[in-house]
Order: sequence, then structure tokens, then C-alpha cells
Amino acid sequence: MAELLEIKGLQVHYPIRSVFLNRVTDHVLAVDGVDFVIEKGKTYGLVGESGSGKSTIGKAIVGLEKPTSGKILFQGNDVTKHQQRKKIGYNRHVQMIFQDAMSSLNPKKRVLDIISEPLRNYERLSYGEEMKRVQELLAIVGMPSDALYKYPHEFSGGQRQRIGVARAIATNPQLIVADEPVSALDLSVQAQVLNFMKEIQEQFGLSYLFISHDLGVVKHMCDNLAIMHRGRFVEIGTKKEIYENPQHIYTKRLLSAIPKIDVAHREGHKIERRRVEEEFHTLKHIYYDAHESVFDLKPITPSHYVALSTVSQEVD
Ligand SMILES: Nc1ncnc2c1ncn2[C@@H]1O[C@H](COP(=O)(O)OP(=O)(O)OP(=O)(O)O)[C@@H](O)[C@H]1O
Ligand SMILES: [Mg+2]
Repeated sequence: MAELLEIKGLQVHYPIRSVFLNRVTDHVLAVDGVDFVIEKGKTYGLVGESGSGKSTIGKAIVGLEKPTSGKILFQGNDVTKHQQRKKIGYNRHVQMIFQDAMSSLNPKKRVLDIISEPLRNYERLSYGEEMKRVQELLAIVGMPSDALYKYPHEFSGGQRQRIGVARAIATNPQLIVADEPVSALDLSVQAQVLNFMKEIQEQFGLSYLFISHDLGVVKHMCDNLAIMHRGRFVEIGTKKEIYENPQHIYTKRLLSAIPKIDVAHREGHKIERRRVEEEFHTLKHIYYDAHESVFDLKPITPSHYVALSTVSQEVD
């Protein structure tokens, strides 16, 4: 196993301040102790409902949020602190793409300037070299070269996402944190963007941290997954383990929420959804402690871990 990025005991707590005195009165435990490894050339899926802490993990990895505690290791180098990241030029190796390409691309800048921004930060290219590289990048993401002098609002959502990807891969990164990259797009466009993200992954040996609230979307992208709830992981495993043998009720709920297209099985899915909801209410104590917190992960295979009160309990 070629480890690219290792996250150890990561916590990110945001202070809550009182309105009157601006004193810190409490903390939001956005990420509360997670461990995982992203392998070279592989996709790690991070899935959970809104507010579970997914983006906070992504931001901590690229250096946009400061960990409260824990460590981030890139190819064995500690990159938790800004100085350490700077020393090894970490930020050119790890890039991020966002859900909403419209707001993450500067509306006042032309595509040429948007895509060449990371090149200007990290590489010393002549104007001609820079132009050539931006044209290459546009070709990689399947955009015509006349896009160079246009502005973000002149493109569709799918095209804007491609521009975001072109910018993210400009410095030949090894890891891309893709935070809900297709959630704002129509279903047909989603498939196109996902396919081409897979293509460039194979072409350049990229790793992805793929963030989504929808287990349906990540199914064809991920090699391994973590299911996240309330700042903690409730279950981690290979794609096969998570989709074919889910153990935590929260994973089962997310799976039963995937929209089904085949009309013939709709009734069956409805019954299954109801069964999962009943299990959630009657067996909650197996899955959450008295304070509704997530238990520690326990192994059931070398790659499949689940947060249950005890693993000896019969859950399925
Ligand atoms: N800058 C911040 N200050 C205070 N609290 C924050 C901040 N950013 C996020 N939070 C809180 O941290 C928790 C996790 O937020 P985060 O954005 O990581 O969730 P998410 O899983 O990405 O959700 P979504 O699917 O809606 O994008 C939420 O309760 C959120 O309100
Ligand atoms: Mg988010």
C-alpha cells in the first residue's frame, strides 16, 4: 500500500462566542478525532449529511483550517503546521475543487488568468510557456481554446467545473480534495464530470478525497470510504464492504436514501427504508451512546471498522 496522506486523530473545534462580551462560551466539535489514509492513485470517499464535518476535514488538509489537535502526514512528512507545509512546497501537491464553481472562480478574471494563477504562484514560466500550459490544461478538461479570454459567467455549470479542475491540476498535484464537485450539476452533466475526473485520475495517477452527502454519487468513484456523522466516523471500509455489508445504522440510512430509478422495485425499497428507520429507533443504543455521541471505531475485518457499542453484538 502506497500511502500518500495520513490523518491521525484530527480534531477541528470552532469557538462559539457570546454575543455580548465576545467571550468563547463553547466549541462546535466540527471534526472530533478521525484517522484515515489516502493511497496513491486512489479515491477516498467522505460521505455524511450536511454539517457532519466533511468540508472541515477537506479544509484542514489543504491548510484552510487549523487543526485543534492531531497530525497530517504527506508522504511521511508532518504538514500539520504552515511552516512545515511551506518547507516541502506542500500546497502545490494538494489542491481543492469546490461545489460551487461560480463562487470559487473570480468573476472578474478571464479563464486564462484563473487557470494560470497557481502557475504564477509556483512556477516561473515565460508568457509563452504559460499560454501553452493553459491551452494544454483546457484541452485536458475538454474545453475549446477560445475559452481563454472569456469570463466564468459565460459558461455552463459543467463547463465551469471543468475550469475549476483545470486550475486544480495546473501544478501537477498528487491529491485533489473534491468537495461536492458535482452536487450543483444536472444528473447528465454530473456523469460527464465524474467520468472525466476518473480519466484524468488514471492519466496522472492522481488521488482524490471525494466529499459528498450522497452515497449514490460516490459509488463509482471510490476505492475506500468513511461515513461521517457529528464530526466522527461511524464506519470505514472498502467500497464493497460499505455497499454490500453496511453495519452502522447511519450507513444503512444513507444507503436507503439513494434515489431508485427502477419503478419495478420501488415498493421493495420503501419497505426496506421503513425497516431501517424502525431499526434506528429500536436499536439506537447499539449505535450511539447516552449522549447521542458516536462510539469509537472497532475492526470487523482488517479494512472494515464500525462504531458500535460492542462488535460482538449481533447487528445483522
Ligand atoms: N467557520 C466556522 N465557524 C464555526 N462553525 C463552523 C465553521 N465552519 C463550519 N462550522 C460548523 O462545523 C460543522 C461542520 O461543518 P462542515 O462545513 O464541515 O460540514 P459539511 O459536512 O461539509 O456540511 P455540508 O454537507 O452542508 O457542506 C457544522 O456544524 C458547521 O456549522
Ligand atoms: Mg461541506
